[in-house]
Amino acid sequence: MVSNTTYKPCDLVIYGGLGDLATRKLIISLFRLEKAGLLENDSTIIAVDRYDKTRDDFIAIAHDSLKKFLNDDIEPALWEKFQQRLNYLQMDLTQMQDYGKLKPLLSPETHVLINYLAVSPVLFKSICHGLQQAGVLNDEARIVMEKPIGHDLKSCIEINDAVSEVFHEEQIFRIDHYLGKETVLNLLALRFANSIFTTNWDHNSIDHIQITVAEAVGIEGRWDYFDHTGQLRDMLQNHLLQILTFVTMEPPVNLEASSIRSEKIKVLKALRPITPHNVEQVTVRGQYAAGFQQATPVPGYLEEEGANPDSDTETFVALRVDIDNWRWAGVPVYLRTGKRMNYKRTEIVINFKQLPHNIFKDSYKNLPANKLIIHLQPNEGIDIEILNKVPGIDGDIKLQKTKLDLSFSEAFKQNRLFGGYEKLILEALRGNPTLFLSREEIEQAWAWVDSIQTAWKTQSLHPTQYPAGTWGPITSDSLLARDGRAWEA
Ligand code: BG6
Repeated sequence: MVSNTTYKPCDLVIYGGLGDLATRKLIISLFRLEKAGLLENDSTIIAVDRYDKTRDDFIAIAHDSLKKFLNDDIEPALWEKFQQRLNYLQMDLTQMQDYGKLKPLLSPETHVLINYLAVSPVLFKSICHGLQQAGVLNDEARIVMEKPIGHDLKSCIEINDAVSEVFHEEQIFRIDHYLGKETVLNLLALRFANSIFTTNWDHNSIDHIQITVAEAVGIEGRWDYFDHTGQLRDMLQNHLLQILTFVTMEPPVNLEASSIRSEKIKVLKALRPITPHNVEQVTVRGQYAAGFQQATPVPGYLEEEGANPDSDTETFVALRVDIDNWRWAGVPVYLRTGKRMNYKRTEIVINFKQLPHNIFKDSYKNLPANKLIIHLQPNEGIDIEILNKVPGIDGDIKLQKTKLDLSFSEAFKQNRLFGGYEKLILEALRGNPTLFLSREEIEQAWAWVDSIQTAWKTQSLHPTQYPAGTWGPITSDSLLARDGRAWEA
């Protein structure tokens, strides 16, 4: 992994610079990087959008965003330094002649041009061609693309083809912000720096794996986008499959981007296809109905603002995934993700196998198996559930389930946990591709997800409703119950 601490100054151009992602996440992350002294002194940040605004307007918008979302004081001296970097450019991204307006704001002799596409993928092609025609690109220029990269395999290939007419693969940085999360990266350390896990990480020791990415939020004013996308494409195609590959890939030979990516691709290729024949047994689609979130009433998906009351879009998905390779034969991975669930919770549970022989059987007919629980967010940490003898000198050995728990905030009091975007923006500025997705990886993920979408369509599998504030439809419990298992409570 390249880990140079300094890098050439950059002109970071954010297309969609006044949009939700830019104002809620990117500006905040850039300000935090400033605070950490990780923005090169001469670097600039240029927001591009279609609105008639001035540089001063953008500075005021950025300041408002920080006040709203930073959760920290805005130190005046730091803000002064940060706002010097900011600029705004009004452009119509569909108009080729508008791209010429960028030129006077860039310093190609001294700065690397980073194009951050925080806009709908329908604009990706025209942005690439506009930049090319304006003659602002050189071999150092980079493009950072936000998800969704396409809606299915076909549209993803079209976008990738269009972008690669202008940029080489090494210049393309495809973001999945989960790969910037500290706890996701820690999976590499947990698995490949600790021999107790490297030797117990396969079908011999593990019974099954659960990955839950539950959100408390609903659609938050994004009904149109979400209704066209659905939870499978919005969350599972990217974030959950990325976590899955980190948990199940073979050890890469080193930390180079190509080594890690090729191991992840092998996992994606080994995912057993979901077909019209098995889709009802291995998938669950849900949609939230009205309910209560921490005792507050919330509307159902179909009653949200701007909703089409006939929508058939899923806000919850649960799957049983089988990885057809040597390491994971017979070890199902259960994935579930949903909106408006009981509370925000992202975790991985590794359920180890039962012991082959129980010497405590006179007192305990069944010994609960060990579990490794990795809390990705919030309350980042790792728990191991073990059985311990209850201290005492009297009578039989009494066993009790106990936890070895590691809380990141306790163990690393001096270290602030960086957000996913901070890490990824910094890596893009540094030109380190390790935490970004390759073309092959993303296309492979779409191919598999397309098979689910097609199977749902063929079998006319509609979402089952679940009350907001719960863990999804009852059929999600049945998915595991059929295999004699249950979701982690
Ligand atoms: C985004 C999805 O990629 O991830 C959103 O488009 C979702 O729908 C978000 O809410 C969740 O991210 P996080 O970091 O809050 O888990």
